[in-house]
Amino acid sequence: MKFFIDTANLAQIKEAQDLGVLDGVTTNPSLMAKEGIKGQDNILKHYVDICHIVDGDVSAEVIATDYEGMIREGEILASLHDQIVVKIPMIKEGIKAIKYFTEKGIRTNCTLVFSAGQALLAAKAGATYVSPFIGRLDDVSTDGLTLIEDIRQIYDNYGYDTQILAASVRHPMHIIECAKIGADVVTCPLGAITALLKHPLTDIGLAQFLADAKK
Ligand code: G3P
Repeated sequence: MKFFIDTANLAQIKEAQDLGVLDGVTTNPSLMAKEGIKGQDNILKHYVDICHIVDGDVSAEVIATDYEGMIREGEILASLHDQIVVKIPMIKEGIKAIKYFTEKGIRTNCTLVFSAGQALLAAKAGATYVSPFIGRLDDVSTDGLTLIEDIRQIYDNYGYDTQILAASVRHPMHIIECAKIGADVVTCPLGAITALLKHPLTDIGLAQFLADAKK
């Protein structure tokens, strides 16, 4: 399973890259705003800066919601760097844009996916990645992991190449359950990845080994 980090914070991306387990980055307009990145030129430069830190795919999201606007923005984003994947919202115009980019050989990430039907449409349009938001489903008392299971079954039934990129992943159990189900990718905050490291018995065991080594 691939690990992406879900942030536009360069220090956190570097820390995850230095850990040696990072496969890519996802961003969205909210994450860019959180870092105070404003203005077209600064936003485009920031995506390039991210590409220079990480070895792997970097999702950059369009802001337009009309077909022509998404094509225009997506082509600019894709031309920035060969690691860029154009992130497109799951709306009617978005599906048409994904189909267009698929035919042009430009990779896409279909975002804001909350149902198996939406994921099926994204795969049929040729999306490289589909991003079901599992934490936000959990927030409204709907099991996000069940959606990952449903999409896995549908994609396997028909051999769709679209990769399931579990998003809105909030904690280590989300990551472990996604791995058990067979999600292709999880994207999550740095803290959810580093939380996988922790176990009190590891700390106790290491302290004992170090103490015994001094004897
Ligand atoms: O990858 C999507 C993600 O940024 C949304 O996460 O925690 O805002 O639901 P969250």
